Amino acid sequence: MHVRAVQPDDLPFIREELIRHWGDVGVWSIGRRYQADELPGFVAVDDSRAGDGGERIGLVTYCVQDGGYQAEIVTLSSRRENNGVGTALLDAAVEAIRKSGCVRAYLCTTNDNLRALGFYQKRGWRLAMLHKGFIEEARKRKAVIPEFGMHGIRLRDEIELEIFLDTA
Ligand SMILES: CC(C)(COP(=O)(O)OP(=O)(O)OC[C@H]1O[C@@H](n2cnc3c(N)ncnc32)[C@H](O)[C@@H]1OP(=O)(O)O)[C@@H](O)C(=O)NCCC(=O)NCCS
Repeated sequence: MHVRAVQPDDLPFIREELIRHWGDVGVWSIGRRYQADELPGFVAVDDSRAGDGGERIGLVTYCVQDGGYQAEIVTLSSRRENNGVGTALLDAAVEAIRKSGCVRAYLCTTNDNLRALGFYQKRGWRLAMLHKGFIEEARKRKAVIPEFGMHGIRLRDEIELEIFLDTA
């Protein structure tokens, strides 16, 4: 498996991946809508699968915010869980963000996503803020957001995690 920057012919895969996990290519995060299929990012590719440069098995997208002080990781998803894909993509995005000069990276996940909350914290990310009720607000704009999420947990809030980066 290798990770490389998103390229134009990834677009069908990117759209499929965003729709699979976020229901749309427009991804809401703490009150902001990202056109996530236009963001910079990285794709994980399984080299063992021949043809068309391998099989795409994961995606991360991010956005450097105005001012260049911080960046948000907008989406991260893996089609081959528990094989190191998510970790490799997260590392690639954090490194790109660090190289762009940002001192802080942050991301948001939903209150039901216990796997992601564990995944990020095990990789040094810290809980930064609770955005209470933001999913309930987002649902008013994006009806595809379900009432209940993973583990039968009511989907209500966004939880922001952060990591500070050494740019020296
Ligand atoms: C969260 C998510 C991105 C993690 O992706 P992943 O590919 O499973 O991540 P990894 O394989 O790198 O790590 C997952 C676990 O597998 C383990 N693992 C990695 N390589 C492994 C291997 N070769 N054999 C066994 N286990 C392995 C890791 O140690 C890790 O466990 P840990 O968190 O207890 O340390 C994935 O679950 C996902 O796509 N979720 C749906 C979308 C989502 O919720 N995204 C996050 C919100 S933005």
